[in-house]
Amino acid sequence: KKRVVSGVQPTGMVHLGNYLGAIKNWVALQDLYETFFFIVDLHAITLPYDAPELSKATRSTAAIYLACGIDSSKASIFVQSHVRAHVELMWLLSSSTPIGWLNRMIQFKEKSRKAGDENVGVALLTYPVLMASDILLYQSDLVPVGEDQTQHLELTREIAERVNNLYGGRKWKKLGGRGGNLFKVPEALIPLAGARVMSLTDGLSKMSKSAASDQSRINLLDPKDVIVNKIKRCKTDSFPGFSLKLFTSTFSLPNSSIRKKAHGIEFVYSSLEFDNPERPECRNLFSIYQIITGKTKEEVVSECQDMNWGTFKTTLTDALIEHLQPIQARYEEIMSDPGYLDNILLEGAGKASEIADITLNNVYQAMGFLRR
Ligand code: TYM
Repeated sequence: KKRVVSGVQPTGMVHLGNYLGAIKNWVALQDLYETFFFIVDLHAITLPYDAPELSKATRSTAAIYLACGIDSSKASIFVQSHVRAHVELMWLLSSSTPIGWLNRMIQFKEKSRKAGDENVGVALLTYPVLMASDILLYQSDLVPVGEDQTQHLELTREIAERVNNLYGGRKWKKLGGRGGNLFKVPEALIPLAGARVMSLTDGLSKMSKSAASDQSRINLLDPKDVIVNKIKRCKTDSFPGFSLKLFTSTFSLPNSSIRKKAHGIEFVYSSLEFDNPERPECRNLFSIYQIITGKTKEEVVSECQDMNWGTFKTTLTDALIEHLQPIQARYEEIMSDPGYLDNILLEGAGKASEIADITLNNVYQAMGFLRR
């Protein structure tokens, strides 16, 4: 069976981007593959954070995985820091990762620019090496993530290949290993729809946990009235419902071969559109509606293109609430039984450690460390 791994940071609230870009797709994968879904708490400390909140956010994120349909009898669900091998392998990989590779990471550049020099710890730079470790430890085949993680996945592949070349194969065999590659080179799995959910207040920037305004995102746990309000106030455009268009048509006279051209002006009803690049907000909201209703693009277009913004917003709000309410109800249920969640995380960390330790020991061996 192929292996699949992925994770979400326990910073802020899990939002619709995390759900549509990642978590929702994990649910389908757990039936097909051997899956490992973790909460990446070690990544959450790479920017200034609130220590008393970290453990709460970690539990809450785990409960959200379950509420969204991740099933602990199919997938291993665990907390990254509970499996020590993640940090250990990261250190080993760091020695083979050129600083230049990390300096060119877009997320590092963006986050460090926003945070200001004083707040940029070394860990923000080495963050992608930890992510590579998360993935490579499990000899993963596929990593289902949103589009913003593609560069980190590319880096993971480069690190894997470099370490395979530096320490794998015959060199590893000479040191008593089995030879061959130390790591499988993984691939990103980016969804066709939902890979980049945009902000509700600006259709050109990504929905994100770190955006200052909570109005810019729908959190999975937002109560009904908050969702109503956020969609009501979200950015739209003012493309005219009706526009004037020049047209030319050719017609032939009855009983004659003469063709005539006529020019005229007509009113065209455009209303809402999926694919007009000048209307990013419209595309984003249509796309959200499409995924949560499970409809095809064509169905959404024919259902919604003639609506005005008010009607479409009500339709979208209703669909969001209908989709999120059962998730929220399950979340409350899970959170009301801490023992249940703790057991799942304990069991998940146990299964993960077994596999992670095999890879970690191989790497120690191939890199020439004295074995215990
Ligand atoms: P994080 O916590 O920022 O986001 C979690 C997942 O949500 C996706 N995502 C989005 N997808 C669509 N539209 C959006 N607006 C949007 N915002 C976020 C992300 O692409 C991601 O899939 N570094 C990772 C966490 C990580 C990880 C890993 C992932 C650590 N180790 C190993 C996979 C494998 C991160 O910060 O994700």
